[in-house]
Amino acid sequence: MKSMKMPKIAAEKIPAHVAIVMDGNGRWAKERGLPRTAGHEAGEAALFDVIEGAIQIGVKEISAYAFSTENWRRSPDEVKFLMGFNRDVIRRRRDEMHAMGVRVRWVGRPKRLWSSVINELEEAETLTAKNKVLTLNMCVNYGGRSEIVDAATALAKDVKRGKVSAEKVTEKIFAKYLDQPQMRDVDLFLRSSGELRTSNFLPWQSVYAEFVFMDVLWPDVDRTTLWKAIEEYSHRDRRFGKA
Ligand code: IPE
Ligand code: IPE
Ligand code: MG
Repeated sequence: MKSMKMPKIAAEKIPAHVAIVMDGNGRWAKERGLPRTAGHEAGEAALFDVIEGAIQIGVKEISAYAFSTENWRRSPDEVKFLMGFNRDVIRRRRDEMHAMGVRVRWVGRPKRLWSSVINELEEAETLTAKNKVLTLNMCVNYGGRSEIVDAATALAKDVKRGKVSAEKVTEKIFAKYLDQPQMRDVDLFLRSSGELRTSNFLPWQSVYAEFVFMDVLWPDVDRTTLWKAIEEYSHRDRRFGKA
């Protein structure tokens, strides 16, 4: 698989920001008669291969959906596993990401999230803060609607304090209140596992994203899956409302 050559694509046709819904771990495990948690474990290598492939081809930013605000609805055992697993992956991969020039940023809500997970994310953010090769937004306890509601709440408070005038709120000002104000708009939105939905991932940032849904379960994804999706993206005609 990894022997597939990287496609030659003009730099301006490479998406700067790729958002990824890493889905299908449970089904991958089920197909093998394994517990769902084994699927999550197998998904780790997929993410890091995709990050390497993204750097090779010139992507500048990846947003990886690791745990949604809706994933709390899973069994307590699976939630507990996912919390511990996210914490461990971030700790274990931190130095490697730093060496690759990856800047890690946490995107999500603190509410309910394990403090040990927040601590690891913040450690990684501090360590990698000056890296410029690629930004990795780790979306942990992320929900698109909660992000917008939290932004609206913070903005309302600033209006009340007289810091912002309600009549002057623009899209640009509103976006400053989102979880990661520096995040670029999403160019390419990917989802594995064949599901055709966004599941509350980056709605504000994806209004003009190109969508590619991949019929492969997340643990079977590697950099060549990303490259194929980018090749498809490079043939899309993005008009942004213009004629
Ligand atoms: C994605 O895989 C990982 C997370 C949502 C944390 P799933 O666990 O959703 O796998 P499926 O969709 O059940 O196969
Ligand atoms: C989306 O996948 C969340 C993550 C990949 C972290 P889900 O598997 O939770 O989404 P639904 O429930 O199938 O929409
Ligand atoms: Mg799923």
